[in-house]
Amino acid sequence: MAKAAGGQLFTLLEGPESAGHTRRSQVYKSCLKAILDGRLARGSRLPSARELARDWRISRNTIDEALLQLQADGFLERRVGDGTYVSRDLPSTASRKPAAMRPASRAAQASYSAWAQRALHSRLPGGSPQPRAFFAGFPALEFFPLDLWQRLTTRRYRTGGRDLLGYMPSMGLPALREATARHLAISRGVTCAPEQVMILNSLIQGVELLSRVLLERDDAVWVEEAGYPNVRTALSMSGARLVPVPMDEEGLDVAAGQELAPKPALVHVTPAFQYPSGTRMSLQRRLALLEWANRSGAWIVEDDYQGDFNYEARNIEPLQALDRASRVIHLGTYTNAVFPSLRLAYMVIPPPLCAVFEAVRSQLDDHTHGIQQAVLADFIDGGHLSSHMRRMRSIYKSRRDTLLGELHATLRDEYPLGPAHGGMNVAMHLPKAMRDAPLCERGWKAGLHLAPLSRHAPTQGGLNGLFLGYAALSEREIRAGARRLARFIEAEHRRR
Ligand SMILES: Cc1ncc(COP(=O)(O)O)c(C=O)c1O
Repeated sequence: MAKAAGGQLFTLLEGPESAGHTRRSQVYKSCLKAILDGRLARGSRLPSARELARDWRISRNTIDEALLQLQADGFLERRVGDGTYVSRDLPSTASRKPAAMRPASRAAQASYSAWAQRALHSRLPGGSPQPRAFFAGFPALEFFPLDLWQRLTTRRYRTGGRDLLGYMPSMGLPALREATARHLAISRGVTCAPEQVMILNSLIQGVELLSRVLLERDDAVWVEEAGYPNVRTALSMSGARLVPVPMDEEGLDVAAGQELAPKPALVHVTPAFQYPSGTRMSLQRRLALLEWANRSGAWIVEDDYQGDFNYEARNIEPLQALDRASRVIHLGTYTNAVFPSLRLAYMVIPPPLCAVFEAVRSQLDDHTHGIQQAVLADFIDGGHLSSHMRRMRSIYKSRRDTLLGELHATLRDEYPLGPAHGGMNVAMHLPKAMRDAPLCERGWKAGLHLAPLSRHAPTQGGLNGLFLGYAALSEREIRAGARRLARFIEAEHRRR
């Protein structure tokens, strides 16, 4: 749909083409489109700003501003006392068409690095997560105190905002490093000085950075036999050799790892909430891993993704707090506790490694967004993060209970569920005969957004099932989704 002005030649873009734009950019883009596709010919005269304002029911000021911008960009000429004309000499970029989107040729693919080839093939399809049954990795954003966040942001811009526009320290804004150290001590029992905290754009960035700092080509790296594919991709950044180590109900099997690769440079674990199985690493295993790492000289990377969402009375003590030999690098993210697009995460670095991490970071992306760091520091210091998390833990716990209850009622425990003491997702195991990947594809066609567990364990083929996210779904959506899932699984069962 388009509103016409000056005849049918010249229309104001509406509908999806203009969604999300201000009125001024809507006018700018409408005129530009008409110029570029030739409806407004070079040298032709535009309707007057007054006419456009009347026909489009947009203020005269807005029209003037948009036309001025088009003039500054070289698309229009304003002749005093005469009118506004399309330039005879349009900017040279105007006639150039960008290359059409098409798949890469074989020759182009051959130029990709081996690392990129692996990344391409381990990429999860389906785009970014959506709050639908049962996409994993999505917090319930409707409860986030957006008004408060907006107020804190405005205040930061107003007082000292200019100081936050320049280059930030590579380790992070001191206020946020301090707030993070305090927050971690209270919520996770992590003991560290603010000087050990590096603020990152994402947890995965931390994994990539540490693989640059600590790994050489062909170094062995233990990873849990099933894990988040992007972590594997980031760990292999420096050409390291990933060694999947078996897991049992106590977590990573340290003895089995020693047999598979006795001298790894690094071990990546998710002890609080194993991703995706949900297992929590027993205290005995955590101590055995630390003791062995200390003897062998391996670094331990403790990935605490979703570790701050624990629904049981007892929190498990992080490896970082049990570590007496400074072997543990602790990583966490604000993605779920605050919101995903914030892109803020943190790494607690053992003191002897701080200088090298800072030096390497300063030569890569250098630092993280200044204002966002400052606002988050204020959010934590004002006690808002802990109260938001308290609230969300209770909401997620109740959503988890609803999902487990509904699956129990509909599928009668025929398909074992993984431990669900925390996190925002639960693993549902399927018999081998019901292969999870094709089943999930059929599920998508039936409107169920399902992720196969096998994707997390590409080399082992040990896991077969569904990874169900529940945190972003209302109780009603969970009940309806679980019933739909149960009907779908039963139909799949009959197909066998
Ligand atoms: C184990 C693990 N680490 C890290 C991440 C991603 O964290 P971020 O959003 O900060 O990159 C994920 C996401 O699912 C994950 O499963």
